[in-house]
Amino acid sequence: MRLQDARRDYYRNLAHEQGFRSRAAYKLKELNQSYRLIGPGFYVLDLGCAPGGWTQMAVKLAGNKGKVMGVDLSYVEEVPGAHIIRGNIEDEFLVDEIMEYFGRKVNAVICDLSPHVSGNWSIDHAKQISLNYDCTKIMDKVLMHKGNAVFKVFDGEYSMEFRDFVKKKFARINLTKPPASRKQSSELYYVCLGYTG
Ligand SMILES: C[S@@+](CC[C@H](N)C(=O)[O-])C[C@H]1O[C@@H](n2cnc3c(N)ncnc32)[C@H](O)[C@@H]1O
Repeated sequence: MRLQDARRDYYRNLAHEQGFRSRAAYKLKELNQSYRLIGPGFYVLDLGCAPGGWTQMAVKLAGNKGKVMGVDLSYVEEVPGAHIIRGNIEDEFLVDEIMEYFGRKVNAVICDLSPHVSGNWSIDHAKQISLNYDCTKIMDKVLMHKGNAVFKVFDGEYSMEFRDFVKKKFARINLTKPPASRKQSSELYYVCLGYTG
């Protein structure tokens, strides 16, 4: 078995054993171990949450004093401890629903969005980055001062432009790839700490 297959199986088995819906949950766990994006009591908004692995992990990290909301175009089975809504992050009215649920600004916005991939890399990359810009529009309205965010980025032509755009809004930004992210995949995570607006 190739190392990359063994690694994928390792995370898949771990997710199965520990009751997480996706291997992706471990990417958030590892990012959090390195950067402490989410702490106990945090209010967390999860954009592009299906099937719910990150949402489950966010509930665990935020604990019983925290609050977590997940949004996705697709149906997501209920996640205990979280509020899930079916919606399009390109829809401006989503912000009202988010604020209504939390009742105040959130401590962290986590974005793991992927478009429906067409197989044409340039199109998929451009669409994925465009979804991240849409997330920042929501983020600008709901994230508190000094809050944190993470964006999955399909690395390519427009990623540095997006990095420069988002960098201006935070005290610190780190470009990283957690061990749970497959080496051969072109995804990166931008971990943004200390929102300044
Ligand atoms: C890689 S999955 C997220 C996996 C998730 N973090 C987990 O741990 O289970 C990416 C998600 O982005 C969602 N998505 C893509 N475009 C969207 C949009 N415009 N609005 C809301 N969700 C969207 C997709 O439906 C898909 O479920």
